[in-house]
Amino acid sequence: MTVATISVPSQTLEADLPALLREPAKTLRDGGLVAFPTETVYGLGADALNSSAVARIYLAKNRPADNPLIIHLPDPAWMDRVAKQVTPTARRLAAQYWPGPLTIVLAAAASVPSLTLGGLSTVAIRVPAHPLARALSRAADTPVAGPSANLSGRPSPTAAGHVLADLDGRIDWILDGGPCALGIESTVVDARGTRPVVLREGVITREMLGIAKADAAPVGTAASPGTRHRHYQPDARVVIAPVDEGAEVARQLSVRRAVGFVGPISDLRGSAVHVLAQPLGALELGSVLYRALRQADSLGLDTVVVEAVPADGVGRAVMDRLHRAAGSLHS
Ligand code: TXA
Ligand code: MG
Repeated sequence: MTVATISVPSQTLEADLPALLREPAKTLRDGGLVAFPTETVYGLGADALNSSAVARIYLAKNRPADNPLIIHLPDPAWMDRVAKQVTPTARRLAAQYWPGPLTIVLAAAASVPSLTLGGLSTVAIRVPAHPLARALSRAADTPVAGPSANLSGRPSPTAAGHVLADLDGRIDWILDGGPCALGIESTVVDARGTRPVVLREGVITREMLGIAKADAAPVGTAASPGTRHRHYQPDARVVIAPVDEGAEVARQLSVRRAVGFVGPISDLRGSAVHVLAQPLGALELGSVLYRALRQADSLGLDTVVVEAVPADGVGRAVMDRLHRAAGSLHS
């Protein structure tokens, strides 16, 4: 069966969302799967407190069962529904960054099924900035477990079409809220102690969290279980070019192969290079990276050359994803 889609334009009033979401919210409530937009990437939602619904997520994505899911809430006040103990660190981070692209790890409440937690005793929680994501959870009146809505190993989906390409026939609904603003997944932070520990890099940086540079682990040493698995890889080979050298690397490789390029505006006249995106800086590269990798595959390209950005601030997160896409990092 093909998946049902509802398009929700960004100018839709929040007050109108419950009526629009009645059917998908009921499906979620009844144990079905509903893909939804967030400000980072699209999520694949199921009732986080229903073990058989959550089992369907792992099946649809081919996801390893030891990779826990993030739980999405409509309101920080719901944290007590899924966390055993909300620490002062967590309260502070939630007040500062929610709704937004920050996932907070705490001790799990007994109500959360082990499958949602990938067998851990901790739970990862976030309140997304996208109104549709929050409205879905509220309309279904349950916390929503939601990994990125891609097949495991593929680049995360940043538009409804990417979800359709990977999961058509495997899920019940797609809520189409247009392209995702940020394009890379949330920062994951362990907030059980007095100081936050970053488990996965994201747009909310170590600097923003007040973590001194000296404390910063090198890229790739994060401890989030999902960061162990192969990730974000298109069929095309991904080549990371040094800063300022992307266009030249692409031009040279394109003599023998079908090559795509992602990097700052460059003169590629007279070459056969397909320019996939021309981001300026790390934040913009993050927002177009997964889309460009998927586009390279749709065009049947052999190689994608992506020009590196300095690995500080948001650049750390973007370079982490890029190294994984290139297969040069799977710690
Ligand atoms: O931006 C995002 O975080 C998106 C949107 C949909 O919210 N979600 C997302 O989910 O990226 P996923 O499943 O693709 O990645 C979740 C990451 C994985 O690396 C997973 O191992 C980690 O969060 N994680 C989940 N629960 C955890 C826990 N209890 N402790 C440590 N890491 C956890
Ligand atoms: Mg993912």
